Amino acid sequence: MTEEKYYKLPELPYGYNSLEPYISADLLTIHHQKHHATYVTKANAILEKSDNQRNLGSEMDLKAMLKALSFNIGGHILHSLFWENLCPEKESNAPEEKLASLIASQFVSFERFKEEFVQTAMEVEGSGWAALTFCHQTKRLLIMQIEKHNLNIYPLFSILLVLDAFEHAYYLDYKNEKATFFKNFWKIVNWKTVARRLKSASK
Ligand SMILES: [Fe+2]
Repeated sequence: MTEEKYYKLPELPYGYNSLEPYISADLLTIHHQKHHATYVTKANAILEKSDNQRNLGSEMDLKAMLKALSFNIGGHILHSLFWENLCPEKESNAPEEKLASLIASQFVSFERFKEEFVQTAMEVEGSGWAALTFCHQTKRLLIMQIEKHNLNIYPLFSILLVLDAFEHAYYLDYKNEKATFFKNFWKIVNWKTVARRLKSASK
C-alpha cells in the first residue's frame, strides 16, 4: 500500500476529554477511533481491492464498489470536518461579524438559523448530517441535510459547518435524548473554523 494514495485518520485538534461535559471522553474516543477509523479503513480497502482487480484484469462489481466507496469516503471527509468545527467550550466563540451578518441576512436571525439547523438534524431519517453550506453561484448560505454520508449532497457547495446525527454520535451519552445533544452542540462550535471556511469559499 503506497501511503500517500490512501486516506489517513486525522488526529483530533483537542484531547478526548476536551468536549466534556457535552461529549464524554468515552464517546469521543469510540466515535473517532472506531467509527471514523472504520470509514478510513474501509475506504482504503476498497481502493486497494479495486486497484488490484484492475491490475489483474479481473471483473469487479462496480455498482456495489462505488456505493461503498462513496459511503466510506463521505464518512471520512464529514467526520474530519466535524472534528474541526468543534472545540472546548472555553474556546467556543460567537460568529464574527461578517459571518453573523450573513447568517442573519439569510435566516432572518441567528436564533432562527440555529432552530432550522437543529430541526434539520432532528429530521434526519436514520443516519445522516445537518450541514451549513455556501453556494458559489448565488452566494447564499444553505442548510443541507445529508442522508447517510453521501446522499442529497449539492455538488461544489462548500461545507462550512456539520453536525453528526448518526446514533453513534450521541447514544452513549444521551440515549434517546438527541435533541439535548443537538442543543449542546452550540456550546462547542468553533466559529473561527466556520468563518475560515467561509472566507476561503467566498474567494
Ligand atoms: Fe459519526
